[in-house]
Amino acid sequence: MQYVMLTGGAGYIGSHTALALLRAGYQVISFDNYSNSSTAALQRVEQLAGTDLIRISGDIRDEAALSAVFRQYQVSAVVHFAGLKAVGESVAMPLSYYDNNVAGTVTLCRVMREFNVKKLVFSSSATVYGDAKTVPIAETAPRSATNPYGQSKLMIEHILQDLVNAEPDWGITLLRYFNPVGADSSGQIGEDPNGIPNNLMPFISQVAVGKRDKLSIFGNDYPTPDGTGVRDYIHVVDLAAGHLKALQYLETNQGIEAINLGTGTGYSVLDMVKAFSRVNNVEVPYQIAPRRPGDIASCYAMPDKARKLLGWQAEKTLDDMVRDSWRWQSQNPDGYTNS
Ligand code: NAD
Ligand code: UD1
Repeated sequence: MQYVMLTGGAGYIGSHTALALLRAGYQVISFDNYSNSSTAALQRVEQLAGTDLIRISGDIRDEAALSAVFRQYQVSAVVHFAGLKAVGESVAMPLSYYDNNVAGTVTLCRVMREFNVKKLVFSSSATVYGDAKTVPIAETAPRSATNPYGQSKLMIEHILQDLVNAEPDWGITLLRYFNPVGADSSGQIGEDPNGIPNNLMPFISQVAVGKRDKLSIFGNDYPTPDGTGVRDYIHVVDLAAGHLKALQYLETNQGIEAINLGTGTGYSVLDMVKAFSRVNNVEVPYQIAPRRPGDIASCYAMPDKARKLLGWQAEKTLDDMVRDSWRWQSQNPDGYTNS
């Protein structure tokens, strides 16, 4: 039997991808150290799929633990989500970010090569475009990083490119996600941030559910239609489907490709707040606050390459995104904590 291994499979995007893979008939292994997740997410994935996956608790920096998995199971491909992702924390703890993200990826690739598994889907980010000069952003746009988290993603992209240059029989896709939001429509799995959310959608959801007083909108004087920041929000279920397409692509293709996963449409912070209130019929009190250091005005994808190469495009609407985010939040006000 052949397995797809998901590093970080219990996390926000990993759990939704695990569900999509199980529903499509794949055998799935989740390899996660639960540093930012819990096994409850995987239990719910299994309930929703009506089938089990293999859950392994381990760290991608632990070569012996990884080798044990590859020795026991026949792994055909790896989808590599595991890593740390909080920008502010990365500034305070750069070594942890380079160790988990960069060193962890190098260890993973070393073990994959040892077991002759050479298909890899990597979770990159639109953060590798830095402060893009023009939007929409194509994959060919210049790359730069403004913080250690972004730098770690950029370094990994370079490392994987060098690996393919040296060993052309690898097949690697660098999926550059824009802003993932939403949840499975069951409301059973979703994003469960620790502490005060950094990202917009979980913050809006926590205001709406009464856990936080009001949203601070970071700046209303950007050169955008309403002055607030514009981003390419993409439903996590669409994102998960993109990983299936990437795996299918790697069945017949070698080499390395960077591919944007975004909708191609930008929405402002105020667009998001208004849609959330309208669709869910809830209040989202907000105040205008100073700009957040490091933020950019506008960031959205040119999504054409994903359509041409993978046959994938985002299908969910803004209303789906805010409805599904709210269903998850309102059904699980404390995330997975009490499950
Ligand atoms: P997440 O934190 O929910 O999931 C990451 C998972 O990896 C967690 O379950 C965590 O426990 C696990 N993990 C972390 N370090 C590990 C290690 N050393 N060994 C084993 N497991 C480890 O994050 P997510 O939102 O699902 O993001 C998944 C990937 O996508 C990350 O690489 C992230 O950088 C990238 N990404 C996320 C976003 C986003 O906004 N969510 C945007 C762009 C890129
Ligand atoms: C952030 C990260 C980026 C990461 C991305 C997806 C920073 C500087 N960048 O990007 O590296 O790839 O998340 O995880 O953290 N906003 C508010 N109030 C809030 C929160 C956000 O007004 O409380 C605004 C922001 O100013 C921005 C928009 O909402 O205009 C989206 O913010 P966020 O969800 O944090 O995503 P990004 O800034 O795109």
